[in-house]
Amino acid sequence: MLQDIERYLTCPHCGLGLALGGDGRGLRCAGGHAFDVAKQGYVSLLPGDAHTGTGDTAEMVTARADFLAAGHYRPIAEALATAAGGTGGLVADLGAGTGYYLGHVLDAVPDACGAALDISKFALRRAARAHPRIGAVVCDAWRPLPLADGCADLVLNVFAPRNGPEIRRVLRPGGRLLLVSPTSRHLRELVGALGLLSVDEEKERRIDEKLSPWLELVERTELEFTLRLSHADAAAVVGMGPNAWHTDPARIAAGLAGLPEPVEVTGSVQLSVYR
Ligand SMILES: C[S@@+](CC[C@H](N)C(=O)[O-])C[C@H]1O[C@@H](n2cnc3c(N)ncnc32)[C@H](O)[C@@H]1O
Ligand SMILES: [Zn+2]
Repeated sequence: MLQDIERYLTCPHCGLGLALGGDGRGLRCAGGHAFDVAKQGYVSLLPGDAHTGTGDTAEMVTARADFLAAGHYRPIAEALATAAGGTGGLVADLGAGTGYYLGHVLDAVPDACGAALDISKFALRRAARAHPRIGAVVCDAWRPLPLADGCADLVLNVFAPRNGPEIRRVLRPGGRLLLVSPTSRHLRELVGALGLLSVDEEKERRIDEKLSPWLELVERTELEFTLRLSHADAAAVVGMGPNAWHTDPARIAAGLAGLPEPVEVTGSVQLSVYR
């Protein structure tokens, strides 16, 4: 709930702290800026001129929620929960989506609360309900995050936009970033058969280069697992990711018709820990 993370939130207009009114329906800073809490439980702390075009659409969020609920990416959730360790405090998930991974981490860290940050209100409607200790906040990862300096013990970033300087600013000294990114082998059987966007082998180096002025890589593990997907699951994994913006559903359906069912697909990601 927003009550759990209220003390860490800052005003996107003036940077002052925010507090919930007694009825829990709005946040307000000492400078008088006010933000309504949506009836689904999230709050938007986007500055007025922000555009939300890169956020996941309602269709993408539904595809993602169904796919994750079926447990196909459970190995990633478990690896994150293990890496999170037992520390309490605030876990901020940047590009949190439906809150699936943040919820798993909070289950493993009973004293912590979580901030689900995303630009998609469709995603955050779900994240707000994903775990009792999650507060969900609409914001833009490429702007100053509406979180106080040094307030987070842990930042999660799973298949999502990364803003090195802001992640560094909101982490407490000694705090960590757990970053999950696909390797060039991720979903390779579908990439070939359906003509999807591929992850290039340079991606890892580029991530490191962008983050290295702000954060130090301390550990990296590769995680490979096999997904057994129905054609509907395979269509969902396409529809919930960046391919949703670039592919034609008829071409995907035609490509899927030529694959066995269930189809075995490689899951391949790396979990990087930065300090
Ligand atoms: C591929 S999804 C991953 C979601 C979640 N981490 C997961 O793996 O289930 C990327 C997420 O980043 C969000 N996103 C895209 N652009 C963003 C931005 N500028 N600021 C914040 N979130 C953004 C999308 O709305 C989406 O929820
Ligand atoms: Zn303000």
